[in-house]
Amino acid sequence: MLSVKQRSDYTFRFNKKMGRHGWLRLTPAYSVKLVQELVEETLKDARILEPFSGTATTGLCATESGMISDSLDINPFLVWFGNVKCAHFEENELKKLEQRIEKVNEQLPSFLEADNWAPKIHNIERWWCGHTLPLLCALRASIVEEFGEPSDDQYSSLAWVAFCRLMIETSSADFNHVSMSFKEDVTRYEVNQIKLLFKDIVEAVVDSTKENLLGNAEIFLGDSRTLDTLNGKKYDHVITSPPYPNRMSYIRELRPYMYWTKFLNEKKEAGELDWKAIGGTWGTATSKLKEWAPDGVELPESLLVVCEKILHAESKNADLMARYVHKYFYDMHSHFASLRSLLNAGAKIDYIVGNSSFYGNLVNSEKIFESSLVSLGYKNVSSRIVRKRNSKKELFEFCVTAKWNG
Ligand SMILES: C[S@@+](CC[C@H](N)C(=O)[O-])C[C@H]1O[C@@H](n2cnc3c(N)ncnc32)[C@H](O)[C@@H]1O
Repeated sequence: MLSVKQRSDYTFRFNKKMGRHGWLRLTPAYSVKLVQELVEETLKDARILEPFSGTATTGLCATESGMISDSLDINPFLVWFGNVKCAHFEENELKKLEQRIEKVNEQLPSFLEADNWAPKIHNIERWWCGHTLPLLCALRASIVEEFGEPSDDQYSSLAWVAFCRLMIETSSADFNHVSMSFKEDVTRYEVNQIKLLFKDIVEAVVDSTKENLLGNAEIFLGDSRTLDTLNGKKYDHVITSPPYPNRMSYIRELRPYMYWTKFLNEKKEAGELDWKAIGGTWGTATSKLKEWAPDGVELPESLLVVCEKILHAESKNADLMARYVHKYFYDMHSHFASLRSLLNAGAKIDYIVGNSSFYGNLVNSEKIFESSLVSLGYKNVSSRIVRKRNSKKELFEFCVTAKWNG
């Protein structure tokens, strides 16, 4: 039997450092420290809005500071995950949960010979070897037997969060780059190792829920271009990090989690969801983009100039990329326009966004956001560099800030 290194990152001590923020390695979440600083700037009774929730970093930071926040995401998996991450838990219910987890492990052998459900992930053998995969399927079946499929129940959701973490940690997914890649090898796990890892992860996850959350955060499913899910509510501070115009697909990154939790069943659903997402370019989203045309909304001149340059680059994808950038800023402009009706007079907005480059043409996201905001009547519009992004010298992350005076 191959030995699995003792993973200090599964221990309670490690997780305590990260708390709930460290539950899953998902899309590049933004810096907890940065969000904490922005949250601390705001008055305690301010209502916070996060229109691109992702892994619910903003919601969690706000509730940790005793504040009330609402968040939105287009992706149902992230809405489910964000709500578990920000939930309040009772200690006696958590004790019961740990007993139920023991049951899941005890009954696991009885599922080993069964014909268990497996997710329809393309090239699944790249993720898990033919020995480990059936073990994960059996563990999943045992969790379903005890808890049912993923639901809104916050306690059984913890079991599913732990399963997600186990599934990704036993896979060959590599997180050393901005977007997920694969390690050379897939590791073989034995049933006892799987049981032990699952138990350790549950302990670490449960332990981090004991931190007392002082505020309240809710994550809703919705489209931030229209924001109609939140109709009628008003906010004082928007703290967020929307997608960047860099062709990173959140669905691509979240595939394993979404298939295993059945938030995604077929490949074509991935493309459909990505088309709804701002900056989505996965599967059918790409072919739909080829047909897309703006509908006459007046957009910043600097955007039109850079799109024109991209269009004339020497590449067979030049037209597609020009449309991609155009649509990204068109969608963000629609978002800024809809947002106005949800802001109290004096509200502040903080958007963390990166610039990007297409065929050597720099797309200055922060400047284009600034122009959109000014044209939509926002005041005190400005931006500052937050950090350098990677080895490319021209890529940075910015914080674009503005006020809404009503
Ligand atoms: C950069 S991520 C947010 C990361 C987040 N700040 C965190 O710390 O995890 C952008 C998020 O916007 C979501 N999104 C994209 N288009 C959207 C839309 N039209 N409405 C709502 N959410 C959207 C994506 O699903 C993704 O989760």
